[in-house]
Amino acid sequence: MIAVSELLEKERVSHAFTTSVSHKEKYGQYFTPYPIARFMSSLFPVTDKKIKLLDPGAGIGILSCSFMERIIKEKWNTPDIHISAYDIDSSVYPELKENLAIASSAFKNSDYEIFSEDFLEKTSFEYSWKTNETYTHVIMNPPYKKILTNSKERQLTRIFGLETVNLYSAFMGAAISLTEDNGYIVAIVPRSFCNGLYYKPFRDFILTNCSIKHIHLFESRDKAFKEEAVLQENIIIMLQKNTKQEDVRISYCNDDSFEGLIEFTVPFNQILYDDDKEKYFNIPTKKQVDKEKVINYSNLKDLNINVSTGPIVDFRIKHLLLKDFTDNSYPLVYSVHFKNYRFVWPQETKKPNAIMSSDEVKKQLFPKGYYVLVKRFSTKEEKKRVVAFLITPGDFANDQIAFENHLNVFHSDKTGLKRNIAYGLICWLNSTYIDEKFRLFSGHTQVNATDLRNLPYPNFEKLEQIGEKMQKEKIWEQQLFDSLVKEIIQ
Ligand SMILES: C[S@@+](CC[C@H](N)C(=O)[O-])C[C@H]1O[C@@H](n2cnc3c(N)ncnc32)[C@H](O)[C@@H]1O
Repeated sequence: MIAVSELLEKERVSHAFTTSVSHKEKYGQYFTPYPIARFMSSLFPVTDKKIKLLDPGAGIGILSCSFMERIIKEKWNTPDIHISAYDIDSSVYPELKENLAIASSAFKNSDYEIFSEDFLEKTSFEYSWKTNETYTHVIMNPPYKKILTNSKERQLTRIFGLETVNLYSAFMGAAISLTEDNGYIVAIVPRSFCNGLYYKPFRDFILTNCSIKHIHLFESRDKAFKEEAVLQENIIIMLQKNTKQEDVRISYCNDDSFEGLIEFTVPFNQILYDDDKEKYFNIPTKKQVDKEKVINYSNLKDLNINVSTGPIVDFRIKHLLLKDFTDNSYPLVYSVHFKNYRFVWPQETKKPNAIMSSDEVKKQLFPKGYYVLVKRFSTKEEKKRVVAFLITPGDFANDQIAFENHLNVFHSDKTGLKRNIAYGLICWLNSTYIDEKFRLFSGHTQVNATDLRNLPYPNFEKLEQIGEKMQKEKIWEQQLFDSLVKEIIQ
């Protein structure tokens, strides 16, 4: 067999540099580096049965070709391979056709079909009439694009029984539906579906129809597609259709060289926690699995604590924003108002310090008390994703306060928290332990209220215990948080 890999890498790199950004964005077109394709193909177990392979959004055929290359190299006893490759971009067809022809020529019995059609449109139509093809294997790097509630894509995906928000999860949902029982789906996709409310139906869809066999994580967010400006954290996931969930293989590496690949197996309840109603998919690190001594976790509901997004959306009420606090106004809290985990107000920045009273604003104020705030957006450069700050009654300029929308607010039914609990939360949320927990399910820098609800918390007594200790300490720093948390988790 000729070195398809070299040919494909040449074509991919040339495409990356010569194709316009607008073309790539229109089609969600970022081809898979060959070493990643090879790794994806390596996940399928060896079989001697006929292979029916689906490659939805095939581009120039890198994924299908890498799988064929593996089968030939390892001399599988596969009698037959049939490939269905879909792509809507007619500019890829000449190379797609040529590459599939070269790679499949090494087989005794092989055939391939190229469908120059919208994958969702064609397959959902056939699926609704039960005239669809079925597959034993799927290998995919689908396009990524948000899809709106009324879009054609959303409607087509509903035919497969899935409500979802992005083209990649729509493609995966369709692919799962077209896979035969015991068949395998290997996909490289953004990590974003592993957490968050919007992707819950998709996680449910996966859990209902498949077992998770393998998850691979690229630790560095810009390394998987390094020639392209793809800043997603990507994972490779292998699913098996309608099979019992068993232990899951986890692997990690930094980039497409796969150097220093770490692999280990975890029980499924390390991926999906037993009592997690949101069904977040956690991706445990080796370190985590080794050291974890599970404490008796509580959730915020048990603790009678709520977390919500700050209700004041400043650009909607620009006319009420004030640089300086005056009579008939309330302090308006932004993240610029925190230093060393405490409230320092007012501040000389571009942000306002106060908000004028109005009927609308009055409904959104919080009464004097203890509150814990967590930034909703951090930058990539910041060391920690979860950063928590404290507000105490002594910080109030009058009897109420307004929290801006870029903050998450911990409160107790729209009133302040118990003092020890508020101090305890500051320690707990700022600990390295919690940062690691957060990174198990989230690949982005955004921290939503749902994510905070989904973190583990110590029970009431333990939280109070660390809260008391925190009040005795003047200087709050990472080492202090970590040592206090260590005392209660070991
Ligand atoms: C992220 S690229 C990946 C290409 C290839 N699978 C690879 O790994 O190199 C996604 C491909 O899907 C194609 N595509 C986008 N929307 C599509 C649709 N609705 N139906 C079929 N193909 C589509 C794009 O043209 C693009 O080639």
